[in-house]
Amino acid sequence: MKKIQKLLVVAVTLLLVFSLAACGSSSKETSSSSSGGEKGKSGNDIQELTIKISHVVAENTPKQAGAIAMKEYIEKESGGKIKVQVYPNSQLFGDKDEYQNLVANNVQFIIPDMSKMVGNDPGFNVPAMPFLFKDDAAAEAFWDGEKGQEIFKRLEKDGVHGLAMWPNGAKHMTNNKKAISKPEDLKGLKIRTQGGQLLEEIYGKLNAGSVSIPFNELYTALQQGTVDGEENTFSNIESKKFDEVQKYTTVMGHTRVDYALLTNTKFWDSLNEKTKEIVQKGVEAGTKVARDSAAKLNEDALKKLKDRGQTKINELSPAEIEAFKKELQPVYDEWAKKIGEDIIKDAESKNK
Ligand code: LMR
Repeated sequence: MKKIQKLLVVAVTLLLVFSLAACGSSSKETSSSSSGGEKGKSGNDIQELTIKISHVVAENTPKQAGAIAMKEYIEKESGGKIKVQVYPNSQLFGDKDEYQNLVANNVQFIIPDMSKMVGNDPGFNVPAMPFLFKDDAAAEAFWDGEKGQEIFKRLEKDGVHGLAMWPNGAKHMTNNKKAISKPEDLKGLKIRTQGGQLLEEIYGKLNAGSVSIPFNELYTALQQGTVDGEENTFSNIESKKFDEVQKYTTVMGHTRVDYALLTNTKFWDSLNEKTKEIVQKGVEAGTKVARDSAAKLNEDALKKLKDRGQTKINELSPAEIEAFKKELQPVYDEWAKKIGEDIIKDAESKNK
């Protein structure tokens, strides 16, 4: 009988030991899967995320090409754990509300034209400085350099983190009233701008009126004659079919469209090391594609505009461009002071 009791005690003890061990291992599993549930923030797992990228231009543009390259890299390298949704054509947010929705983290990346950021920091006026950069490479070198990065850093006060500059390219003038070849030709025209006082003053100096209108309302504004003209890259003119409603295009390259790829700082800081590395490399992949495709897309767009033949294209001679430069020099000098002489000197030095 005593032997049976002893055996029973051993059996019960063994049962207890096994069930405790089983409990221990299942609680370990729960804790590791719950850190996955918290999107692996503290661990080194790739976080499960859905990231939204919003922008205002069409699909066949350098901005969309960059955004798609980002999406493809991030989704592939995360093994599908990170999903990236790209919204072109102001489908999600437009010029008026994309920044505030980035601040609210309703969207994780936006890529605004810097001329729409001048209210946040005067440094974003640089692309609107008349005839400043000779090409995309000079603009890229400035924004990648110390002064450009300082301007990006100033957005941290809004909880916004600047990641990279993406070029579109030089802007040219379109209008529906007359062929433009000299500064006097602008007199009395009403021109739509992307916004900001510098662009306003450029047109003021040319005796033209100006008004800022969001990009997704621009076609209708041109069609209905709310404004006579606008300034943009060939890529934007062609992809939005502005040539349907603008009889004249003047190839000037007097200002630029350059973009700021921005994210929400809190979102950025919430990424663990592994996730951030993938997203950061996705940003680099997108930046490379946007930079590599911009000039070619603008070239192709100019060809398409010429083939369609709906807008009369007038390429200014170097002497005609010089006349515009001379006329706009006082505006340039005044704004070099407003933006910061050190910043403008640095930007000018990138043309070498
Ligand atoms: C415009 O509003 O004309 C452009 O800035 C649009 C863009 O994002 O290129």
